[in-house]
Amino acid sequence: MAFFLRRRSLIRILLLVALALVIRLFVSPSSPASSVTSFYSTDSQEIRKQNVLDFVAGSDKPLDVHRHKFLQVRMGRDEREDLFTDIITDGVLDYWERFEKPYIVGRDTAHMDEQSVLSAIEQLLTLNGWVAALCPTLARPFMQNKAEDAYEDLARQDHLYYIGMVIHSADHFLVDQLAVIVQMTRRLGSSNLFVSMLDYDSSDSTETLTDLCEAVLTLLGVPFRIRRVPGMTEDPVAAYYPLEEAYTRNLVLEPLYELYAKRKIKFHRVVWLKGFTCPNDILETIKLSASNDAAMVCGMDWAEHNGFFIFSDRWRTRDINGDQFRQSKSTSITTSPVSSVPPRDAVGAVRYSQHLPFQVLCCESGTHVVDPAQSYYAGIRYRAGTDFHNASTPADAPVRDPEGKCQDSAQMWFCRDLWVWKARQGLHALEADGGADGGAGVHTHPIVRRAEDEEEIQQLSQDQEHSDNDNEDAKRQNEELSPRQGGKADADANVGSDYDASDLELADPPPVETVPDQVELNIPNSVFLPARIMVNPRCVTTYAGVKHTQLALDLFGPPDREEGDEEMKAKDVLDRWEGAPDTFVCQEQVRTGGRRAPKSQRRLSFSIHQELEESLS
Ligand SMILES: *[C@@H]1O[C@H](CO)[C@@H](O)[C@H](O)[C@H]1NC(C)=O
Repeated sequence: MAFFLRRRSLIRILLLVALALVIRLFVSPSSPASSVTSFYSTDSQEIRKQNVLDFVAGSDKPLDVHRHKFLQVRMGRDEREDLFTDIITDGVLDYWERFEKPYIVGRDTAHMDEQSVLSAIEQLLTLNGWVAALCPTLARPFMQNKAEDAYEDLARQDHLYYIGMVIHSADHFLVDQLAVIVQMTRRLGSSNLFVSMLDYDSSDSTETLTDLCEAVLTLLGVPFRIRRVPGMTEDPVAAYYPLEEAYTRNLVLEPLYELYAKRKIKFHRVVWLKGFTCPNDILETIKLSASNDAAMVCGMDWAEHNGFFIFSDRWRTRDINGDQFRQSKSTSITTSPVSSVPPRDAVGAVRYSQHLPFQVLCCESGTHVVDPAQSYYAGIRYRAGTDFHNASTPADAPVRDPEGKCQDSAQMWFCRDLWVWKARQGLHALEADGGADGGAGVHTHPIVRRAEDEEEIQQLSQDQEHSDNDNEDAKRQNEELSPRQGGKADADANVGSDYDASDLELADPPPVETVPDQVELNIPNSVFLPARIMVNPRCVTTYAGVKHTQLALDLFGPPDREEGDEEMKAKDVLDRWEGAPDTFVCQEQVRTGGRRAPKSQRRLSFSIHQELEESLS
């Protein structure tokens, strides 16, 4: 039955693609024959600079696709011919010439055609995908799903949102991702979004599905750039994954920079869609991002593993102590003590188990929301280490400096850059203040903060105790809850894994190479203004094979459970932000070999002071 439905949906989708093709022919001013070829051609249409006419005929919608053709662009379409290319092109042309064109241009039939386009758009707006259709029924705390009109305020603000996606052979959830975009369009308005999709060297049916995305977005009037690029290297042995991450991310952002440079269009938030995330969870995360004035808010991503769901993005996530998240099961909140949930730091763990957002050193975890004003517009780009060994060259692997820069994920580089940028902002503010004591730039002194930590944790763990009827567990929690840099060593704390994406096999963690003693920095990171990076555990990202209803139950309990909504939700806004940890777990790829290249681990110091000095020299 499910299969049958799926096939029916697929046929509907194919019909839509055909319809869109016809519409493209219809709206194109040139002759049908030439526009068929132009549809398949790779003209790169950059964003045009604003000209006098734009100012004179200024529209209040800067992203109006009907005025600016360059707002809907397809680049680098995969044009490799296959067996059926000729047959299909002939068929499409024939159909157009004999059945569509006369009907569309005919005086007495044209209005009916217009009507059918309008109803197609209406139908598209209800596109809810296969998984996305489930979203409204899934359990969420604080009645997140029931508040149907809770996102009206977002719509009223009329902000611009930029949706970024990197697709690398991930056709299994692209249709659902498209459904999410359509749902967001419905909420936020079609000219309030820009969709940037990058197909990085996919070899599955991503090509066909990006055609579908193009068709749907064209019909809905959503501005987009869909672009396909070949891989950086043909041989996987010569590919360095963090470099690929940085390269693809920056390419996705190109229209963002162009729109700003050439048309002064600024986006309020950038939403990176990865895996599958329910539309409401994304909207909620956007709200959290604004209320916390956060540089980045991430969801949490869960993958199916032997019938369980486990937290999966450990490659790019570090808690506020710089430790790696645990590969916890989704049931860890309800079945085990706070010391077994994904974040290891005491405050984060307690907040996680209360479904509240918590601060981290770095995250990505599927769908995440970035404030471009605190990052991209400030000049931060994605980058990766260059000190790796290229295994496809004859040279021997170099001897590594144990304190050398971490060759980790592009996201970890991005996070460190966010921390350093924010610290610099703080210093500028301080200078502007004439260097007055306790100015805006300097955070509370670390020793004072340590004491505050203690108090807060006491408070938090008491809360936890109340809601926990298992006294043994509660006792254990209190023993294990420890402020930063104290407490019991967690045997698992430095254990890594090379599991970071849905298509990777779970592997046994590689051995820890070195764990130096606690580092003493000349100037501790805690004196600098902290970056605001946080994880929203209520924003769930999943991959194929996840039973969403079960996952939601594991994480949040039965749907009707009412928690002290208002009171708890007030805690969504963090009132204290920690400084960066002085060390972190560096999990790195020191040699090429694609995304499956082995990773090794060491604990490394992170000195914002040193980074600031380096950037000055
Ligand atoms: C590794 O070396 C090969 C051969 O010189 C080159 O083609 C490839 O781009 C290099 N890989 C990286 C990531 O620089």
